[in-house]
Amino acid sequence: MREISNVRQAQIGVWVSVWAGATLFATWVFAHRFPWGGGVAHAGTFIFFWFVFGVAGYRSILALVPLRPGDMNPGSQEEWVFQVIHLPFNFFLFDPVVRSGLLPTCFSAVVYRLFGARLGKNTYPGHSTLFDPLFVEIGDSVSLGHQATLVPHVMEGERMGCFPIQIEDGVTIGVNAVILAGVTIGKGAVVAAGAVVHKFTCIGPNEIWAGLPARRIGTVNGPSGLPAGMDRPLPSKDESVGVSR
Ligand SMILES: CC(C)(COP(=O)(O)OP(=O)(O)OC[C@H]1O[C@@H](n2cnc3c(N)ncnc32)[C@H](O)[C@@H]1OP(=O)(O)O)[C@@H](O)C(=O)NCCC(=O)NCCS
Repeated sequence: MREISNVRQAQIGVWVSVWAGATLFATWVFAHRFPWGGGVAHAGTFIFFWFVFGVAGYRSILALVPLRPGDMNPGSQEEWVFQVIHLPFNFFLFDPVVRSGLLPTCFSAVVYRLFGARLGKNTYPGHSTLFDPLFVEIGDSVSLGHQATLVPHVMEGERMGCFPIQIEDGVTIGVNAVILAGVTIGKGAVVAAGAVVHKFTCIGPNEIWAGLPARRIGTVNGPSGLPAGMDRPLPSKDESVGVSR
């Protein structure tokens, strides 16, 4: 992993201190205005403002100094934004909110949109994890299985970069699947449970991919257009099922 210089560590300190200072000030103002409720109410107020100022600060800074897709060269603007703004945002807001497991599924889409993800209708990340939401675009009615993980960043030794992951309408991502940077998945495709989809893989519409590394194992052939196996009763042991080769 690339080192974070002392200067950048100090800049991280400034960004987090401003964020914490604004949160404490707003909490203090509210505690004076609405003194009832005691410590629990003040803790709730603090958490609320930590979230609001974190999202507002992060999105505003990134609007001014965008984190563009691609490789991050040492000393580049992208490397600076990633190390100084994006990583602390992840450690102090994204991880506690998303990865704690406390975020109710019904709110997950709203929170991810606030963090920058583009999500279609009827798509709820729930207990999957979409890292670097700014680089995640998901269409309508996409099923994201429990603990599926999307990783748009590349961190391999000294190599760093962010590459968008694009998932079209009606895709199913199986439980525990891992989708790596730069992957595109076409309409109605299925990524099997536990699959690991390599960087920059292109999965075509209605294809079924499985395994580690993920390979195309067939296509969806359900007449209703639903993923294989979901549009008919479960097959008997010997019956052939939805994957057509
Ligand atoms: C990929 C999948 C759609 C295939 O289902 P299916 O059409 O009923 O097919 P079968 O279970 O009969 O398996 C067909 C072949 O795919 C293989 N296969 C199925 N699931 C697999 C998986 N997760 N990983 C690797 N191979 C898999 C089977 O071993 C079989 O191979 P074979 O013909 O060489 O024996 C299904 O197994 C799956 O992973 N669904 C994801 C469900 C999910 O997690 N949804 C999200 C919930 S929110």
